Order: sequence, then structure tokens, then C-alpha cells
Amino acid sequence: MVKVEDIKNIAVVGFGLMGSGIAQTFAQAGYNVVGRDVNEDILRRGMESIKSGPFGVLKAAEKGKIPKDEAEAIINRIKTTTDLKEAVKDADFIVEAVFEDLELKKKVFAEVDEAAPPHAIIVSNTSSLPITAMAAATKRPDKVAGMHFFNPAPVMRLVEVIRGLQTSDETVEVVRGVAIKLGKTPVIVNRDITGFIANRIGILGMLEAIKMLENGVATKEDIDNAMKLGYNWPMGPFELADLVGLDTLLLVCNAIYNETGDPRYFPPDLLKRMVTAGNLGRKVGKGFYEYKK
Ligand code: CAA
Ligand code: NAD
Repeated sequence: MVKVEDIKNIAVVGFGLMGSGIAQTFAQAGYNVVGRDVNEDILRRGMESIKSGPFGVLKAAEKGKIPKDEAEAIINRIKTTTDLKEAVKDADFIVEAVFEDLELKKKVFAEVDEAAPPHAIIVSNTSSLPITAMAAATKRPDKVAGMHFFNPAPVMRLVEVIRGLQTSDETVEVVRGVAIKLGKTPVIVNRDITGFIANRIGILGMLEAIKMLENGVATKEDIDNAMKLGYNWPMGPFELADLVGLDTLLLVCNAIYNETGDPRYFPPDLLKRMVTAGNLGRKVGKGFYEYKK
């Protein structure tokens, strides 16, 4: 089993909102990273956000989180490619961060398993899907776990480490150790339940807010203010939903609803229609609120 201190090379498969933030997080902690996505345009946008985004490396330097003269070296530690084999061939640790779609994730896990070195650990950043199902798509289910980062990944302090049915104790320990090296606080989720700990609770707040808006209880601004000023949330539930991405939020609540049958997670019509309309949140400039590009 690979040791935490032997892990040097990281591959991040899926270089969208989370994948690019996760790649940045590893590079800021000194790791070499290769990011993979399906086209050059997405990879370029991911690198732009790593460099100059609201939580990018330049902002980290400006805020004194990293030495100013390290910003360039951090960016240079991240390479990108559209070639999956190239991305994972030398990796010790692979983070999957593609769309929240189990069939896609199983396909990606099978491809990564074929191309990655036998010692490599493969983790998923899924918000809600079963780790055990992704592990079953590989020939190394003992070396597969969940490693759930929060958005924005370079800033948020929590990482959930999820044990699939066949994940070995050694793998859980290595993933926990890597999270600590990234400066995060890991929590261990011992059973592979949908939504794990944080999303089982956090998603309900966003869904309840959308249902209130739909039912005319209050405006989105007042609902956001209620939670920011009354509960000291750093963002209101609509601001948070826009940050997460309404497409991802819909996929996550559908996944939790489908697995549990719990009607509290059934997506409100308004959320479905917003996604159909393409108002996906901050990443496209419009969700519940509008954002300057
Ligand atoms: N590396 C390290 N730190 C960085 C950084 C970087 N690259 N870039 C910025 N920071 C630091 C800043 O220095 C600042 O730290 P200090 O407070 O010590 O100065 C901190 O990050 C916050 O940065 P800002 O001051 O620029 O931003 P802010 O105060 O407006 O906070 C926010 C922004 C962190 C997003 C805050 O609004 C917040 O916490 N919102 C809630 C986010 C949340 O709940 N996320 C979870 C979403 S759900 C999810 O992710 C799970 C899922 O599966 C869907
Ligand atoms: P996103 O839509 O921003 O990015 C997903 C990326 O996956 C896209 O760039 C897409 O092109 C890429 N992709 C699709 N198929 C691929 C393949 N075969 N190989 C490589 N890349 C491929 O979504 P996101 O918000 O970054 O979410 C990614 C994952 O992280 C999901 O599982 C989501 O549930 C989870 N997550 C999201 C958040 C959040 O707040 N958005 C927080 C924590 C976890």
C-alpha cells in the first residue's frame, strides 16, 4: 500500500468547477497535478480560474495565504490534457470530479483503473453517489474511496472521507492523511450512505428555501437575509445554490431522493425549470441572481 509521504503525482479527472479547485488545492500543497477534461476550452477556463478566479492563486497571494513569489510555481505544477491515459499514467492518487452521473462515473473509474499504476488510489468527489458502485467498476475496489471536497475547494476546510463497502482500512488512512497534508480537516463517513453527512443536512436548507420562494412565502432576498442574519450563514441558501450550480444541486437531490425515497429531497418544480432554462448559477452568470462575467 502506498504511503502518504510517497504520494507526489496527482491526476484530477474532470476539470470543471470542483476539479479545477481541487487541482489548485493539491498544487498549493506542493503536489504535481495533471488535470483532465474533454476539451481544451474547459481546461483553459479551469486554468484561468486557478490563476485569477475569486479563490485563485493570485487572490491567495494577495490575501497572504501563500508567499507572493510562489504563485507562479504553483500554477506551473499543474499540467492539463484531454488524454486520460496521459493524465493518469504516472499518478499515485487520482481524484474523479466529473458530472454527478453514476453511469459516467463508473465508466471513468473503469478507464482510470485500466490506465493507472497498480499502486494508485482512486477517489471520487461525488456529492451523493455510491462509492461502492464506482469501486465495483475497477479491479482494485479496496483502493477506492470517497474524498468529498466543498466548494470553493481551496478555501473550505472540510473533506469527507467515505468508506465504500470494500475500501480497505489502509486506504481510508491514506486518504485521511492526504486531506491533512492539504490543510483540511477530514471526517470519516463509515457507511457509504447517499449524501454522506454534510449534504444530507445542507441540501435540505437549499431545497426548503426554493420551496418557500415557489409558495410565495417571501422573496429570495429576504430568505437569504433571514439565514445570513438570523443563523449567521456566510451565504443565503439562494446564493449558495448559485455557487454550487443548480444543475449539480438537481442531480444531487435526485440521487438522494432516488436512493432514500425521502420526499424531503424531491426537487421542487422551480429548480427543475431553472435548470431547463439554463440558469445554472454563478458559473454561467445567471441563477437565482445575476453575476458579472
Ligand atoms: N487558498 C486558501 N485560502 C484562500 C484562497 C486560496 N486560494 N483564496 C481565498 N482564500 C481565503 C481568504 O484569504 C479568506 O480567508 P480569511 O478569512 O482568513 O481572510 C477566505 O478564503 C474567504 O475569502 P474571501 O474573503 O475572498 O471571501 P468571503 O469572505 O466573501 O467568503 C466564501 C467566501 C468562503 C465562499 C463564503 O461566503 C462561504 O463560506 N460561503 C459558503 C460556502 C459553502 O457553504 N460551501 C459549501 C457548498 S456545498 C458543497 O460544496 C457540497 C456539495 O457536494 C454540493
Ligand atoms: P462541473 O459541471 O463544473 O464539472 C464537471 C466536469 O466534468 C465538466 O467540465 C465536464 O466536461 C467534465 N467531464 C465530463 N465527462 C468527463 C470525462 N469522461 N472525463 C473528464 N471530464 C469529464 O461540475 P462540478 O460542480 O465541478 O461537479 C463535479 C463533481 O463534484 C460532481 O460529482 C459534484 O457532485 C461534485 N461536487 C460539486 C460541488 C459543487 O458545489 N458544485 C461540491 C462538492 C462536490
